[in-house]
Amino acid sequence: METCLGLLLVLITLAIIHIVQSQDQQGFISLDCGLPTTEPSPYKETDTGLWFSSDATFTRSGKTGRIKENLEGNSKPYKTLRYFPDGLRNCYNLSVDKGRRYLVRATFVYRNYDGLNNGPVFDLYLGPNPWAEIDLRQVNDTGEEILHIPTSDSLQICLVKNGTTTPVISTLELRPMEKDAYITKSGSLKLFFRRYYSNSGSNIRYMRDVYDRTWVPFFMKEWKQISTTLQVDISNTYVPSQDAIKNAATPADTSAPLTIKWSSKNSDHQYYLYAHFAEIQDLQANETREFNLSLNGVQFYVPFVPRKLAVFTVLSRSPRTCNGGECNFQLIRTNRSTLPPLLNALEVYTAIQFLQSQTDESDVDAVKNITATYALSRINWQGDPCVPQQLRWDGLNCRNTDMSTPPRITTLNLTSSGLTGTIAAAIQSLTQLETLDLSNNNLTGEVPEFLSNMESLSVM
Ligand SMILES: *[C@@H]1O[C@H](CO)[C@@H](O)[C@H](O)[C@H]1NC(C)=O
Ligand SMILES: *[C@@H]1O[C@H](CO)[C@@H](O)[C@H](O)[C@H]1NC(C)=O
Ligand SMILES: *[C@@H]1O[C@H](CO)[C@@H](O)[C@H](O)[C@H]1NC(C)=O
Ligand SMILES: *[C@@H]1O[C@H](CO)[C@@H](O)[C@H](O)[C@H]1NC(C)=O
Ligand SMILES: *[C@@H]1O[C@H](CO)[C@@H](O)[C@H](O)[C@H]1NC(C)=O
Ligand SMILES: *[C@@H]1O[C@H](CO)[C@@H](O)[C@H](O)[C@H]1NC(C)=O
Ligand SMILES: *[C@@H]1O[C@H](CO)[C@@H](O)[C@H](O)[C@H]1NC(C)=O
Ligand SMILES: *[C@@H]1O[C@H](CO)[C@@H](O)[C@H](O)[C@H]1NC(C)=O
Ligand SMILES: *[C@@H]1O[C@H](CO)[C@@H](O)[C@H](O)[C@H]1NC(C)=O
Repeated sequence: METCLGLLLVLITLAIIHIVQSQDQQGFISLDCGLPTTEPSPYKETDTGLWFSSDATFTRSGKTGRIKENLEGNSKPYKTLRYFPDGLRNCYNLSVDKGRRYLVRATFVYRNYDGLNNGPVFDLYLGPNPWAEIDLRQVNDTGEEILHIPTSDSLQICLVKNGTTTPVISTLELRPMEKDAYITKSGSLKLFFRRYYSNSGSNIRYMRDVYDRTWVPFFMKEWKQISTTLQVDISNTYVPSQDAIKNAATPADTSAPLTIKWSSKNSDHQYYLYAHFAEIQDLQANETREFNLSLNGVQFYVPFVPRKLAVFTVLSRSPRTCNGGECNFQLIRTNRSTLPPLLNALEVYTAIQFLQSQTDESDVDAVKNITATYALSRINWQGDPCVPQQLRWDGLNCRNTDMSTPPRITTLNLTSSGLTGTIAAAIQSLTQLETLDLSNNNLTGEVPEFLSNMESLSVM
């Protein structure tokens, strides 16, 4: 009989060290997009104590805007924004540690900053891959969050026009994560929701969460709230927020299951679940709390007993789909339990596969060197040079063998680009170059020897 079905209970290892590591915001990048250069940067945000900086040195395009309405409701980072009227793709470039897991969060506040009452729709990309569609037509603000491991030491986050409206961004945040947490079979984890079960709380984030995850309170009328003022040991691999874990929901009807439902138009979604449990009620000697966990009727952890004042995280090792897009996560009291089930906090993510590989790194370095050498500043020369193909830099052609092979630059056409000086040595680093057009510029000096040594290159 299959009892575990790949979903495991993660035993808690004492790891106070994780908490200490992130306490000082080490490795955090917190950008207040569109912060005017006249204002101090960085500054300490009053609610969270996070140090926010201007985004000016992380992107080379866009303009700064300011929310006019409802200034009291928004904390400082959300009052200004950067908008991108020019170019199809505009990018931020962040330095990261290749191979490390990061939480990446972007927020988008429109609030009619432009007076046009026309919220934009655009696409968000991570490098050459689509991450999310941002749609501000029906809402004033929105956000996206992902747990992602960069494949190179810079992370490009791009806003890509889809239609005529102007992309905007308010904050961009990067938080290094513990490497053993949130491991997937493949792909990155896009946040679907992260809730803690409280009928009175407000959003929890840094410093009440070491990784600055945002925990949103959630409650339903058929539930009963339980809470504790005692300390709960949160020191497992996931280090969920203590303030979140101190609360839990139980069904008001003590014989009923605790049911968490969600749905998605996309029935192919591959979900990863992280359910955080701690016994926060003072149980008498004759009381027990034991329940079975199931997702859409399939049991995956039986039976489960929450630990007293210490967190356990139950997680899915492999992704789950929900039939018809309707998910039904149930905690069902077992026959020997005297108390109903409880749930303190739940994170649900969808796996997202980033299949398109970035352009060959040495080609990227070479073309960036050429850009710098000739002080070229073309609005569309941002993000990956070759992919996605519809956003390829003008003047380039590339060989895209298949998605998993890094594209190579095969054509460099810098005709009529106002180039002066000598022919850049970095051109020889484009080792797959077949066509080079430097005509109609004011280049001086000899044609360097390396050009004649490059096989299969035809020069204009
Ligand atoms: C991104 O930034 C890193 C370092 O900050 C730099 O080495 C790299 O060339 C930049 N990439 C782009 C595409 O500008
Ligand atoms: C957007 O914000 C305005 C005030 O700035 C408010 O009147 C309106 O109801 C909000 N719209 C939505 C969809 O929340
Ligand atoms: C633009 O949006 C439409 C509708 O959502 C979508 O089908 C299309 O793929 C998008 N285009 C790009 C370039 O993302
Ligand atoms: C547990 O014992 C107390 C008395 O000590 C009693 O009032 C209570 O009903 C008992 N609970 C159960 C579930 O047996
Ligand atoms: C809990 O799971 C066990 C093992 O599968 C099963 O025997 C038991 O009937 C389940 N209890 C309930 C209430 O579903
Ligand atoms: C649990 O109790 C129900 C009725 O209360 C009974 O139908 C079921 O067989 C019991 N299950 C076990 C595993 O004892
Ligand atoms: C371009 O590369 C050459 C070496 O090939 C180096 O000397 C030069 O400093 C680089 N220029 C820029 C702007 O990166
Ligand atoms: C380079 O681009 C120009 C137009 O932008 C075009 O006329 C020319 O043919 C191109 N050169 C090559 C070698 O394709
Ligand atoms: C080259 O430079 C000369 C003198 O500076 C100028 O007259 C000419 O227009 C330039 N040609 C190109 C193609 O930029």
